Formats: sequence, structure tokens, C-alpha cells
Amino acid sequence: MATKTATSVARAAPAAIPAVKSIGFIGAGKMAQALAKGFLSAGCVRAENIWASAPSEKNFEFWHQHGCQAVHENRTIPENCDITVLACKPPQIPSVATQIASTELRTRLLMTVAAGVPLKTITDIIKHVPVARIMTNTATQVCRGASSFCLTRGFTSDAENLRIIKSLLGSISFCEEVNESQLDAICAISGSGIAYMFLFLEAMADAGVKVGLSRELSIDLSLHTMAGAAALAGEDRAEHKAGKAFSKGFSKLREDVCSPGGTTIHGLHKLERHGFRSVVMDAIEAATERSKELGKK
Ligand SMILES: NC(=O)c1ccc[n+]([C@@H]2O[C@H](COP(=O)([O-])OP(=O)(O)OC[C@H]3O[C@@H](n4cnc5c(N)ncnc54)[C@H](OP(=O)(O)O)[C@@H]3O)[C@@H](O)[C@H]2O)c1
Repeated sequence: MATKTATSVARAAPAAIPAVKSIGFIGAGKMAQALAKGFLSAGCVRAENIWASAPSEKNFEFWHQHGCQAVHENRTIPENCDITVLACKPPQIPSVATQIASTELRTRLLMTVAAGVPLKTITDIIKHVPVARIMTNTATQVCRGASSFCLTRGFTSDAENLRIIKSLLGSISFCEEVNESQLDAICAISGSGIAYMFLFLEAMADAGVKVGLSRELSIDLSLHTMAGAAALAGEDRAEHKAGKAFSKGFSKLREDVCSPGGTTIHGLHKLERHGFRSVVMDAIEAATERSKELGKK
């Protein structure tokens, strides 16, 4: 069940979770930082109780600046944290799991955000701790992410684990439990998809410059247009979910902007002629296949 609707425009309310005093990340890079920033903004965990580990110090400045702990030894994370998030690259997951398998764990729940890596890769190595496989994106840092997860079952703590994951992820993102088989496609839509939105923004901003606007104005207009479209579509989606007959869906919202013989339909014709929909579908398909490949390595 979704814990945050597509229309949520406000930042999440402070969401301290009694069972979670500390969260640690193995891997201190972009995704770990996006999650940590979100958890801090949402008030889930105090900064001094957030930890990260990485071999080098190149990402340590972020963690120190935010009052978090940064260490080199991966084992320090599960030894000190209620939740451990594996946030290193997919090929590193088996060796990191092996490193921490023999550790005396404080951690009650492991999470992995690695694209494509199946739960089984981890549960074959670490058998005594529940593991959640999560696909999210970097908008978690502004509490506007899109997350999906699946969770190993069969522990006495199953219900509590589910509640913790929904509370944590729900405070920084839309959050939905899914079947593991869906996660490669989800990686393509929400994990990678955010980059496609940025590319579209860049293209819009460049186009504005081409037709004579200043870059600054073109960037602002492009950004507010995308944000406005997302807000409008989000409200419409919420109405649809509430069973309101007047909800429109993406197509009707687009049609509403197209006056007969007008500017928008002329522009849309160009997009269709150049295969805009097909190229977006190809991109999502390619990213899905890549996620599957990463899981096989
Ligand atoms: N970025 C995204 O938008 C996104 C979205 C969805 C999922 N993900 C997933 O998130 C994971 C991390 O991606 P990222 O973009 O955050 O990558 P990143 O910025 O390159 O960060 C990777 C981190 O892993 C650390 N690391 C490397 N080897 C390690 C080891 N043996 N033990 C512990 N840490 C190690 C790196 O250390 P150094 O700091 O020393 O280099 C770095 O801090 C990936 O599995 C990716 O599939 C990312």
C-alpha cells in the first residue's frame, strides 16, 4: 500500500521511528547521501546516529558536514546501527556481505539499494538477518523520491520489519511493496528515470536559448513547467485513486493543452515524428535489461 501519494508537495513531517535509533550505509556515495539527507530532513534519525563507510575519504566531507560518522571499516556499520543499508556498487555486494556475515550485528534489518542484485545473492551469505531490496532515486534527498521494495519473510520480526521500511521510506518518498521480479523494470522507471527528466529539462532549456530566450529565464521556465506538470498530474492521479469520475489521466491533460491548429499540436507532431514515445520506451527497456544483466554478474 502506498504510504505517500503522488501529490505530496510538502516535505514529510518529522517521522522518528522508535525502533530505529541509528542507520548506517556501506558505501558513502550519491545514493547513500541522498537517503541520509532525506532521513535527516524528515527527522527519522539524529545526525550523530547516521554512519557511512567507504574505502577512500573522497565522500567523507559530506558526512562530516552533516554531523554524521564516516569510517573505513565496513563492519563498524552493522556493529553500531539498527539498520544497515548496502549502498555500494552491485559487483561489490557479495564481498561486502561476506565481510559482515561473521560480524556481531546490532543491525536488525539489512537493506540493499544496489541495482539488479537479487535478494538471494545476499541471503545465501547472510542468513540470520532479514533483508529488504529497495529501488529508489536521488529525489529522496528532498523527500520526494519514488521507492519500491521487497522483503525476505519468515522472521518473527516480519510485521515490525515491514512497518519500519514503510515508515522510513514513506517519510522520504512514495513507497510501494512489490514482487522482486518487478524491481528491474522499477529500476528503469524510478531509479534511472529521474536522469531522463533532467535530460528533458536540459533539452528544453537549450531550446529556449535557441529561440532567443536568455539561458537563465529558459532554465527557470523549463523547471517550473516540469514541476507544474508533475503537480497537476499528481492531483489528477489522487482524484483518480479517490474514485473521482472527473480525473483525466496523462493523455487528456496533454490534449487539454492542444488547441486546434495551435502551437502545442505543431510541437507534438514534431516529437511524434521523431519517435519521442518510442525512444522513451527503448530507454526504459534498455535500462531494465541492464539491471537484469547486473544481477547476473
Ligand atoms: N545514484 C543513483 O541514482 C542510484 C539510484 C538507485 C540505485 N542506486 C544504487 O546505489 C548504489 C550506489 O550507487 P551510487 O550512485 O551511490 O555510487 P557512488 O556514488 O559511486 O558510491 C559508491 C560508494 O561505494 C563505496 N565503495 C566502493 N567499494 C566499496 C567497498 N568494498 N566497501 C564499501 N564501500 C565501497 C565507494 O567508496 P569511495 O567513496 O571510496 O569511492 C562510494 O562511497 C549502486 O548499487 C546503485 O545501483 C543508485
